[in-house]
Amino acid sequence: MLILNKTARVFSKPSKRKVYEFLRSFNIYPGTLFLHKLVLGIETSCDDTAAAVVDETGNVLGEAIHSQTEVHLKTGGIIPPVAQQLHREHIQRIVQEALSVSRISPSELSAIATTIKPGLALSLGVGLSFSLELINQLKKPFIPIHHMEAHALTIRLTNKVEFPFLVLLISGGHCLLALVRGVSDFLLLGKSLDIAPGDMLDKVARRLSLIRHPECSTMSGGKAIEHLAKQGNRFHFDLKPPMQRAKNCDFSFSGLQHVIDKTIMQKEKEEGIEKGQILSSAADIAAAVQHTTACHLAKRTHRAILFCKQRNLLSQSNAVLVVSGGVASNLHIRKALEIVTNATQCTLLCPPPRLCTDNGIMIA
Ligand code: KG4
Ligand code: ZN
Repeated sequence: MLILNKTARVFSKPSKRKVYEFLRSFNIYPGTLFLHKLVLGIETSCDDTAAAVVDETGNVLGEAIHSQTEVHLKTGGIIPPVAQQLHREHIQRIVQEALSVSRISPSELSAIATTIKPGLALSLGVGLSFSLELINQLKKPFIPIHHMEAHALTIRLTNKVEFPFLVLLISGGHCLLALVRGVSDFLLLGKSLDIAPGDMLDKVARRLSLIRHPECSTMSGGKAIEHLAKQGNRFHFDLKPPMQRAKNCDFSFSGLQHVIDKTIMQKEKEEGIEKGQILSSAADIAAAVQHTTACHLAKRTHRAILFCKQRNLLSQSNAVLVVSGGVASNLHIRKALEIVTNATQCTLLCPPPRLCTDNGIMIA
């Protein structure tokens, strides 16, 4: 009580956060005194081991992440048992780090939230069994989280977005368009019939051996394609966006990937170089692939917006399109989507890049 009165005099209009920070400056840990609900989020669905502590007002108290990208780049893709082993090696440290950055002791947590699907079964299993052990020890409630729902709702941490809104999730493992009507009320409008766009970009980058390119050696495939595309001329290759005649909002990327594979093989013959060496036309190919991917994503999203508007599923005056996932950090793709939202009087919102990719904050 004494602490509360003292705090009240210091801040005329104290926010919970300020009170918390003030108490911490005296090394006083309020714990449950202020009834702050603190949730620990744990994410291990793919190749990132991530954890974060978020309070009930959306304040991020701390986070930690270990990315496996570098290892998987060397092995030429994610090998599930390798991902599982790396999650096992890092999860304890990452959770500990998120808690200590937050200056929270495990007993202060109100609940533990963990991704339970979708994802790689072996990777998901590490996060899940770690969390189950923790909730058993701490006697805390467990909140199972759907990874895609977490991606879709992340924007509400940074922007005031009302339901319903349209979401496009594009990453290495996901590709879907959905109408978000509530926290767990989603209407799926379209999805990839085969692979995700990030997976396709990763495969093209591997086929172009971009890991050997001095400027791209530590970048993910998609990022390497974006980087190289800036130096290329997309008009040197005539690639057609997939599914031009399909009257739905689905996507497809494996056909495009095969066409690019053939193009690369042809160019290798022409330039007389071996598979594994870098083509002189690699930047032009990257620019053409990136542009075709952007066109495909933009066209299908355009259909979804028109569909929703015609049926009054989205606000006529204040419709919002949220784009998230690793591929959403691509600026050329964002530009293409911006053309669509401008033409349909929608607002385009993207979470900041660190919240677009997998993280513990979105789970918490
Ligand atoms: O969301 P994310 O971190 O993990 C999941 O796949 O769930 O996304 C990773 C994917 C990879 O395929 C990566 O190549 C792609 O996002 N990516 C990009 C860019 N940065 C990452 N794709 C296009 N342009 C980028 N700048
Ligand atoms: Zn994801």
